[in-house]
Amino acid sequence: MTKYQVPKDFLWGSASAAYQIEGAHLEDGKGVSNWDEFVKIPGKTFEGSTGETAVDHYHRYKEDIKLMADMGLKTYRFSIAWTRIFPAGRGEVNEKGLEFYQNIIDECLKYNIEPMVTLYHWDIPQALVEEYGGWENPKVIDDYVDYSTFLFEQFKGKVKYWITMNEQNIFTSLGWLTAMHPPGKFDDQKTFYQVNHHAFLAHAKTVIAFKKIIPDGQIGASFAYSPSYALDCNPDNAMSKVDFDNLKNFWWMDVYAYGRYPKNAMTYLEKQGVAPSVTKEDESLFKKAASLIDFMGVNYYQTTVCEYNDLDGVTPYAKMNTTGVKGTNEQTGIPGVYKTANNPYLTTTDWDWTIDPEGLRYACKEITSRYNLPIVISENGLGAFDTLESDGSIHDLYRISFLEEHVKEVIKAIDEGCDVIAYCTWSFTDLLSWLNGYQKRYGFVYVDRDEKGGSLKRYKKDSYYWYEKVIETNGASL
Ligand code: NOJ
Repeated sequence: MTKYQVPKDFLWGSASAAYQIEGAHLEDGKGVSNWDEFVKIPGKTFEGSTGETAVDHYHRYKEDIKLMADMGLKTYRFSIAWTRIFPAGRGEVNEKGLEFYQNIIDECLKYNIEPMVTLYHWDIPQALVEEYGGWENPKVIDDYVDYSTFLFEQFKGKVKYWITMNEQNIFTSLGWLTAMHPPGKFDDQKTFYQVNHHAFLAHAKTVIAFKKIIPDGQIGASFAYSPSYALDCNPDNAMSKVDFDNLKNFWWMDVYAYGRYPKNAMTYLEKQGVAPSVTKEDESLFKKAASLIDFMGVNYYQTTVCEYNDLDGVTPYAKMNTTGVKGTNEQTGIPGVYKTANNPYLTTTDWDWTIDPEGLRYACKEITSRYNLPIVISENGLGAFDTLESDGSIHDLYRISFLEEHVKEVIKAIDEGCDVIAYCTWSFTDLLSWLNGYQKRYGFVYVDRDEKGGSLKRYKKDSYYWYEKVIETNGASL
């Protein structure tokens, strides 16, 4: 059965983020981040969970990377905590923090695991937030570029794959529209678009700098892509899908890949008085960076159904359920533009996320036809409750079937002409869910801990052995 095989050098991978796994939140000179502060606010996270210890990867990275090597993983995507390198956001380097990432990278290389580094996975130094408002102030652009170029200089020759931003659309939406992430602002649209503009500029200048320092490296941004379907062929609903895509998907991907904002969305935002201010120089930086990026990073979890929204004057963003076991993150939409609807053809996860493997192929084809860029699936996975049996096994067959269906769609997408070069599951070990604590598990490796703590011992789940086989056979076992 060779039907599902992928190219020989395909990067089978898995991903994580510093705040969600490392712990050691104030150890070895690390500075305080926005997340270290945000989780202290009562009611923001499930049972007050924090990343103070997380799954203690900071002290157990050797054991974790050995588990990756034993599985045969080809690439490991992880993020660097800005606060470990520059505790105050800029200026003095924290040698201990630098050494930690040097060790991670060397450990990966020792086992022929390609390190894939995310520069920013949501944890900005709190010092920069207090000094000038963090992402709200254009000063952040140069600080981010300095931080990134410092890392390029340090790790050139060792790290080939780099991701500038993780889910810029999510950290800005949850930070400035729905108040679920720091800085916890609600429906602050004007700032939201300006913050995004700063992040786009930071990305663009970083990409340009990167190509001078590591010309043969590969760089892109990872976007949380939720492809959209119109509810039906009612032209109003079809139009709501187009508007949704322009405002919620292409707004980001077009800047990364074309170097410009989508025109209809910009016109709409100008009329609302919330469009960002864009200079000629910004435009040319965007264009230059777009001509240089090597891939589109896609974090894929679900699709969205769009319906025309005939409501007037309602608050555009639903208050979110941040602390419940089951919490939906659905936005109600934008009055006069779109609202989201359920998909009657699909089921959902324990956290009400739509399960749509085919949507991943849809995402790959849309990116290929629109931008014709190689694709790195930088995240895909299932958050679920897992049970540790008394004999140390975890029978996560639901995760195996979720991943299997998605991987098959990736391979079909390759067959249909998409240049998918990597597929990273979220996540390798269990880790902290930003809002849902430790009960929502994504890993191949179970970590014994809950909100109160635990032994932190690692156990291989059934899905670990399943992925090992997929990698070994390069997809033929599917
Ligand atoms: C995307 C984010 O990048 C990651 O940090 C998060 O944990 C997963 N989605 C799952 O929600």
